[in-house]
Amino acid sequence: MPIHLIDHPLAKVLITQLRDKETPSESFRTACRKITQLLFIEATRSLPTNPYKVSTPLEETEANIWAKEMTIIPVIRAGIGMVESILSFFPNATVGYVGLERDEETAIARNYYRKVPSLKGRKAFIVDPMLATGGSTLQAIEICLEEGTQDITVVTIISAPEGVEAIENNYPDIDIYTAALDRQLNEQKFILPGLGDFGDRLYNT
Ligand code: PRP
Ligand code: URA
Repeated sequence: MPIHLIDHPLAKVLITQLRDKETPSESFRTACRKITQLLFIEATRSLPTNPYKVSTPLEETEANIWAKEMTIIPVIRAGIGMVESILSFFPNATVGYVGLERDEETAIARNYYRKVPSLKGRKAFIVDPMLATGGSTLQAIEICLEEGTQDITVVTIISAPEGVEAIENNYPDIDIYTAALDRQLNEQKFILPGLGDFGDRLYNT
């Protein structure tokens, strides 16, 4: 199933903090980092590992390392808020940046920046906290495919049904991990109830 809604009370309480319009940017950033960690615990649940011998201070034992190299692809701006907490799990991951900005009138995303390393043989995680129309995520997926991987997972904090449907229709095999599946988009293509503009709330703009 492509959409995975994480069902954990910690995530629900963190989503409450993110939604609350009275939450200041500093607390918003902290909640963003924490909920990203919860999302990644779920998003990595079925990632393969390889056996690895490690020596403890007492003896050698069988342990595990990741089977595949990983790349994190944050969508600028809002996705940047998720990167540090992901790197705490994957210190050796590479990071590729995709800059996408929705036009305020049409809500169509324009790609203004792209610095993505080759993704050949790698697992790619696209991270963007808001999946609204799905236009930004679709462009980020196309960039990952162009860079050589089909092993793509999308991690987002709040999703609208319209965005999930857009990804499912175009890429039915790509998994989406989200902490909330909201009701709908409004006329300006903002998520309802949502939390407003994630980038503005993250960066106090
Ligand atoms: C927001 C958000 C996503 C996008 C989602 O970015 O961070 O990237 O909208 O909308 P979509 O699913 O309809 O494409 P925005 O364009 O506001 O740019 P910003 O992060 O620079 O504020
Ligand atoms: N981007 C946001 O930051 N918020 C929305 O509700 C939709 C797109």
